[in-house]
Amino acid sequence: MKTATITKRIIVVSLILFTLIYSCRKEEVSEPQPPALTPYEVVYPGWIPQLPENGANPMTVEGVALGRRLYYDTLLSNNGQSCSSCHNQNLSFSDSTVNSLPHINLGWNFAFLWNGHVQGTLEDAMMFEVEQFFQTDISRLNASTFYRAEFKKVFRTEVITSREVAFALAQFVRSIVTFDSRFDRYMGFVEMLNMQELSGYSIFNSERGDCFHCHPVGLFTDNRFHNNGLDSVYNPQTWGVYGETGDPSDMGKYKTPSLRNVALTAPYMHDGRFATLEDVVMFYNTGVNITSTVDPIMTKPNHVYGLNLSVQEMSDLVAFLRCLTDTSLAGNPAYSNPW
Ligand code: HEC
Ligand code: HEC
Repeated sequence: MKTATITKRIIVVSLILFTLIYSCRKEEVSEPQPPALTPYEVVYPGWIPQLPENGANPMTVEGVALGRRLYYDTLLSNNGQSCSSCHNQNLSFSDSTVNSLPHINLGWNFAFLWNGHVQGTLEDAMMFEVEQFFQTDISRLNASTFYRAEFKKVFRTEVITSREVAFALAQFVRSIVTFDSRFDRYMGFVEMLNMQELSGYSIFNSERGDCFHCHPVGLFTDNRFHNNGLDSVYNPQTWGVYGETGDPSDMGKYKTPSLRNVALTAPYMHDGRFATLEDVVMFYNTGVNITSTVDPIMTKPNHVYGLNLSVQEMSDLVAFLRCLTDTSLAGNPAYSNPW
């Protein structure tokens, strides 16, 4: 009898204790927690090099969406411009007058601007754009209830600084990938290139044209700096990386631009000196200037007198460059103006 009562009491006490502990725990859980963020995955073909991750700024759906808002917002500048003013989605996020560099596949890049002024991650490049180029007045963002709430959601911060602005922009720009050209579909065995394009491809990707050394198939840029022989005399407008480093061996070196969507990014070269792809190919064929800092590829024994391409071969090469255009990029709703 007695043992039964004790057992009953133990059960009752345990029940009370359990309910107490449980309700305490429930209270802990119901404390206001910021909503969880959804990881964002960048999708690209398996034959492309792996996208380097930046652990300090993991991509989230919410972060990319915030970066997209900022990219299209004139609030960032002091002159009514937004990033999209000179980086136009219809032109592979470049521009037809000021010769801006396109914002495509930049997550693979570690050196930015024609003369390599910014070295590091995409976050570093965005920091430069926000602080130096736009000189963004961050207090305007802090005055916006919309942005304060968005930044709090994405970065858990009460006060917005240029670091978070750069990080959000970097997430959006890293999400802009383009791998759906006819050439990509050829690589994926879903479409054939015509004879002319295939001939151009073989010139591009062999010692015949030697383009692939600096514009390797895949990203079509080696993300390095070369002097491809545009000039024979140098001045502040043509000295490129030398202007940054002061190292004479850097004279005339510029960033190798990606050739993806190159048909959309005229005019060509850092100063826009060539209006058409035909002009560019003509330059590589017969116009390369041999100076002491020109890249050794331009002076290989078989190139001493230019590439010696026939008129037909030059037009084949242009046809190949044209099949690097991803026509789906311009209309991709993921990258368009969200406002
Ligand atoms: C007035 C036109 C203009 C606006 C507005 C503009 N850019 Fe640019 N952008 C350029 C030009 C021109 C270049 C190439 C300049 C150079 O390399 O010297 C460039 C280059 C870049 C590059 C380097 C890309 C590479 O491949 O190295 C990045 C990154 C960039 N811009 C980001 C931005 C961001 C982010 C914004 C908005 C905050 C922005 N730009 C607004 C004109 C502009
Ligand atoms: C030694 C490295 C090198 C080789 C080889 C090379 N390029 Fe380039 N290419 C560059 C660099 C660097 C630039 C940018 C130069 C500048 O603006 O001053 C460039 C620019 C271009 C541009 C202009 C892109 C733009 O958006 O402005 C095209 C098109 C191009 N190259 C095509 C080719 C073709 C086709 C070949 C082969 C016949 C070739 N390149 C060989 C390094 C190279």
